[in-house]
Amino acid sequence: MQKLVIQGGKRLRGELDLQGAKNSALPILSASLLCDGESVFHNCPCLTDIYSALRILNSLGFKCSFSDNTATVKYNGICRSEIDGELMQEMRSSIIFLGAMLGRIKECTVSYPGGCELGSRPIDMHLDGFRKMGVDIREEYGKIICKVRDKIHGAKISLSFPSVGATENIILCAVLADGETVINNSAREPEICDLAGYLRKCGAKIKGDGESRIVINGVKKLNGCEYSIMPDRIAGATYLSATASTGGEIILKNACINAMESFTSMLESAGCSINTSGNTIYLRSGSCLKAIKNIKTMPYPGFPTDAQAILMASLLKAKGTSVFEENIFDCRYRHTDALIKMGADIQVIGKTAVVHGVKRLYGATVEATDLRGGAGVTIAGLSAEGTSIITGLNHIDRGYENFEKSLALLGADIKRTE
Ligand code: UD1
Repeated sequence: MQKLVIQGGKRLRGELDLQGAKNSALPILSASLLCDGESVFHNCPCLTDIYSALRILNSLGFKCSFSDNTATVKYNGICRSEIDGELMQEMRSSIIFLGAMLGRIKECTVSYPGGCELGSRPIDMHLDGFRKMGVDIREEYGKIICKVRDKIHGAKISLSFPSVGATENIILCAVLADGETVINNSAREPEICDLAGYLRKCGAKIKGDGESRIVINGVKKLNGCEYSIMPDRIAGATYLSATASTGGEIILKNACINAMESFTSMLESAGCSINTSGNTIYLRSGSCLKAIKNIKTMPYPGFPTDAQAILMASLLKAKGTSVFEENIFDCRYRHTDALIKMGADIQVIGKTAVVHGVKRLYGATVEATDLRGGAGVTIAGLSAEGTSIITGLNHIDRGYENFEKSLALLGADIKRTE
């Protein structure tokens, strides 16, 4: 079993190039399934989830390769209609292949994706959207079996919540459909715009991405293209937080400044000085951060749920009391047990977490129980006294490329051991 071993207390300082966005790359890889010819993706992060997505595409008949952050996906004239159960279990986001398979071959069979560490993650909005577009859906023995009655047709779909996954899946199903699809109350996340940007470059007709009403006009065919994946705003938030919590300074390059504003403004409230220029963020932090009273996770452009554990970890020693409200997932405070073990003072009541700043954190052996929670406990380890050992690295490796190497580059004393 691999572990991260951290000697805490080092001030982080240096420059870092940000990786490509996992949450953009996964739906875009799925979208490549809709295209004839070949797609070439630059700035594709080297992550276990990306390998899982490429394995799924391979198993469906596509020819894929990956090296030096460039992924290629080529259509070979076949697209199978069933994803193997084991592959589906490898990553929760595998459900994003549903819309694309329906779009291309009008049928698909998949099993329910793997259990999720963030609590229940229903897909009713995805399936309701497909039904409106002419898809018959049966659920049998843990499998979802989808078949198009006649043809996939455009539809007016109003989401009861701006779900990122449902918005993406409906876009994927609609780009090759007959007629116009309108998604009302669509998610506005930057990763949706990245997906739409790629599909447009392949020939799709999509308008309104980044807003609450997306309109898609189906086209007959899409052709693969060359595309560069946007930078990862959550990985960016992680390195900024890690630096802030150690009183350090960082030049973060290749960042998406606007997309990170709800996060960087929080770090400013905590007392960090932040300057931006082009796609570079410069952050300098003093020796003690200030608590933040009111951090509510919300759909974009609100504060991202993915950054909740990350910001919490950097505020554990802040002066005063910080209050978090988690509004997206009902089971997203699991990292607090590990943080408390390291000396943090946190009370969780329902969807609220109250963090009283403490003077010191102490190194401990703790487990990453999910991806962003794992990043959070690592951040706490960096600012704790003594040695921390983090296990459960399979979670962290789903979303961070060269995690410990990037932190070590900034001056952290962190190593991966067997
Ligand atoms: C969510 C986050 C996204 C993050 C990702 C990975 C939001 C709005 N979405 O995306 O930013 O990158 O997790 O951590 O912050 N829901 C239903 N029925 C559905 C679909 C969703 O009830 O069919 C509910 C979910 O249970 C959840 C909420 O809607 O409470 C948001 O879900 P959704 O945006 O779809 O989740 P992801 O796409 O996984």
